[in-house]
Amino acid sequence: MRNSGSSSKPDHQPGPPFWLLAELTYRCPLQCPYCSNPLDFAQQGEELTTAQWIEVFRQARELGAAQLGFSGGEPLVRQDLEELIRAARELGYYTNLITSGIGLTEARLTAFKDAGLDHIQVSFQAADEEVNNLLAGSRKAFAQKLAMARAVKAQGYPMVLNFVTHRHNIDSIERIIELCIELEADFVELATCQFYGWAELNRAGLLPTRAQLERAERITNEYREKLAAEKHPCKLIFVTPDYYEERPKACMNGWGNLFLDITPDGTALPCHSARQLPVQFPNVKEHDVRHIWYESFGFNRFRGYDWMPEPCRSCDEKEKDFGGCRCQAFMLTGKAENADPVCAKSAHHGKILVAREEAERAPLELSDLTYRNERASRIICRA
Ligand code: FES
Repeated sequence: MRNSGSSSKPDHQPGPPFWLLAELTYRCPLQCPYCSNPLDFAQQGEELTTAQWIEVFRQARELGAAQLGFSGGEPLVRQDLEELIRAARELGYYTNLITSGIGLTEARLTAFKDAGLDHIQVSFQAADEEVNNLLAGSRKAFAQKLAMARAVKAQGYPMVLNFVTHRHNIDSIERIIELCIELEADFVELATCQFYGWAELNRAGLLPTRAQLERAERITNEYREKLAAEKHPCKLIFVTPDYYEERPKACMNGWGNLFLDITPDGTALPCHSARQLPVQFPNVKEHDVRHIWYESFGFNRFRGYDWMPEPCRSCDEKEKDFGGCRCQAFMLTGKAENADPVCAKSAHHGKILVAREEAERAPLELSDLTYRNERASRIICRA
């Protein structure tokens, strides 16, 4: 049962939200098996209207939010995206579009520019066309992404290229980096898969081995040195998966600390995965953003340190990592208040060790993964 308490006060007062993520829709033409959207996305409520989104932007900006990310699903599915970008820029946000590039056109890029869009992140599934298209579930995806990444740069946007890496594409890290350099990416995010949503469902088929990961990190570092020596503007960001760490990440920089996520139906979350937790979260259709951020039970539930049981409570690293990720603790131990099992001090750390061992066994084929689509979502939810 969800714990909905009316409100709960933390042992310290948070600052304002800095980063607002607008998950405009869960609709998406692709089917990535590592999508971080919830498994039950097909059963979510109606999307917010244009006017409702703009009102959320206004309220969050009034509170101090400075960066606004348009995400999804695929945000390009929303025909009002230009209008939302324009409204966000007029409110003074720095705006970022997070897209697969599917559905993008040069005309739309120009319209976004006119509306004031600051920054674009385009995601790829792989540097190999066949693997990319298999993972995406579209025979045209790779060619479209290449064309749109070029168009993004041609229109003068700063561009991030994002590659989620996993056991099926991480061995091509050189080709990935070379492709990003060729496409003139300003930043390259080599983000080893984190296991939330559909990725958690497919973890055994996606987690790379330690040897794969170490090789990829070594090659990335060699490229970093080479690019720095050449004074090349491209920056490489390498994100290690939690499953090969001994201490947890400071997820979201602390619960309800900087990050405010609004899902397509207006549910407000402290992170994109929190909807699965047994905690009642507020909705922007019922409460204003100030109340949600400062007063709501959901946003105060894991703020500060008072909620922590041992070993986090007496840990001298708790102010650095906040006990790790609440969603991961819930997924792996059934209790969101437990220490993140990534931490070697957690009584549940063995689950991480078992997952590492599983990764050493023969890899599953791409065809063995469960792909994200409405049909699969409905079947999973009925099961
Ligand atoms: Fe939800 Fe880490 S993803 S707290």
